[in-house]
Amino acid sequence: MRTLVTYMTQTGNTKRIAEAIYGELEGEKEIKPIADVSDLEGYDLAFIGFPVMQFDVPPNVKQLLSEETAGKNIAIFMTHAVPEGFEAIHSWTGSASQAAASANILGTFDCQGELAQPVIDMLLKADDPQMKAFGEMGPATKGQPDESRVQKAKEFAKEVQAKV
Ligand SMILES: Cc1cc2nc3c(=O)[nH]c(=O)nc-3n(C[C@H](O)[C@H](O)[C@H](O)COP(=O)(O)O)c2cc1C
Repeated sequence: MRTLVTYMTQTGNTKRIAEAIYGELEGEKEIKPIADVSDLEGYDLAFIGFPVMQFDVPPNVKQLLSEETAGKNIAIFMTHAVPEGFEAIHSWTGSASQAAASANILGTFDCQGELAQPVIDMLLKADDPQMKAFGEMGPATKGQPDESRVQKAKEFAKEVQAKV
């Protein structure tokens, strides 16, 4: 079995989860930033990860999901600043799943990720009140994803791989 873990990251949170997933995988495996992936040919399974940005999947990730996943086994993982269980997370997961509508989606995982200080500063200056509210939430995200979240990501990796 050949598995790919590919991810987008700006401040390292999604990379941390990607590496945790990668570490648990059996068989042949590769880990690469999304920018280095043009298609998913030759993989039996691909984990695709990203940070939620502006209440959605980043456009380059959406493009990979919609253009390259038809008929493929994939699993989606994402990090976000809001706490797990926050209602809007369903719409973000839904948006990613919808973009990959022709894929065989074997699982989705999400967890909180720390808002980096420069991001907090930028959000606090935003005109959009929702963005400003995110900035104010920043300190509460410190240290995420923590060890318990990383552990959950590892379990997710094993569960998904067992389905192939
Ligand atoms: C421009 C920008 C927009 C963001 N928008 C959201 C958002 O809509 N919802 C959310 O929960 N987090 C949002 N975040 C927070 C990131 O999703 C979160 O910090 C994530 O863990 C960053 O992952 P990374 O370190 O892999 O880049 C945003 C961050 C940035 C920089």
